Amino acid sequence: MKTQVIDGAALARSIRAGLGARVTALAGKNARPGLAVILVGEDPASQVYVRNKSRACEEAGIASFQHSLPASTSQQQLLTLVGTLNRDPAVHGILVQLPLPKHISADAIIRAIAPEKDVDGFHPENVGLLATGNARFVPCTPAGVMRLLAHAGVELAGKHAVVVGRSNIVGKPVALLLLEKHATVTICHSRTPDLGAVIRQADVVVAAVGKPRMIGAEMVKSGAAVIDVGINRIPDGPNAGKLCGDVDYAGLLGKAGCITPVPGGVGPMTIALLPENTVRAAEFAAPNG
Ligand code: GUN
Repeated sequence: MKTQVIDGAALARSIRAGLGARVTALAGKNARPGLAVILVGEDPASQVYVRNKSRACEEAGIASFQHSLPASTSQQQLLTLVGTLNRDPAVHGILVQLPLPKHISADAIIRAIAPEKDVDGFHPENVGLLATGNARFVPCTPAGVMRLLAHAGVELAGKHAVVVGRSNIVGKPVALLLLEKHATVTICHSRTPDLGAVIRQADVVVAAVGKPRMIGAEMVKSGAAVIDVGINRIPDGPNAGKLCGDVDYAGLLGKAGCITPVPGGVGPMTIALLPENTVRAAEFAAPNG
């Protein structure tokens, strides 16, 4: 079987290009979209993500306000900053990069973000809106997964979709979105016995576990659509240190119906959809919508 490789980088470019007119229209109303990104601590992967997110916004004509705070920042100091940004009319979106240092409750911080500025879609109000089919902001990575499936022409109604991973950031919201598209959805996780037996039933596999190449080609049905959310470093061997996903990409070429590469699949989509959510936030806030 010829496997269609879904080019997330190209799709992300077209999404970003499509935002230009909306940003210009907002700027014409004196409402240039603005995104505040908060990074606490010095986690190298988070630093890269935050830099990419800020750059994507600037390229789209969105004002980017970056706040890099030391790991010793207290929860109260972070809550105070979020409060200030909530009241700042130049800031339409607020993103607090996760994970946060252990002494800060991510839940408390997320709940403090004004729901209409929560471009990550993590605030309980936005989670509830997503769960009831009335999403205000769809979290960027799950939104990217759905756009990639649509772009590849994958039919979801009546199909069995298996999501591997149950995080609040990816697994749970992507399962809700697949359900909304009328798929039969199974969520697997670390306590699922015989993961392979479940995944082999899937017409659509979304892998979001964070374990390098954990899903082997023998676990996937021939012709299935495979979306790989994992971004891992190869731990050893000749390619040690390079990026790989949660699935055995090379093993699935020729077996999957379509597949996303790592890098170049879901990652660029996550980055592209943040400016889109920020523009959406600015449109909500702008006079006359
Ligand atoms: N950490 C990993 N993914 C994300 C994301 O989508 N948003 C935020 N805020 N932090 C993350």
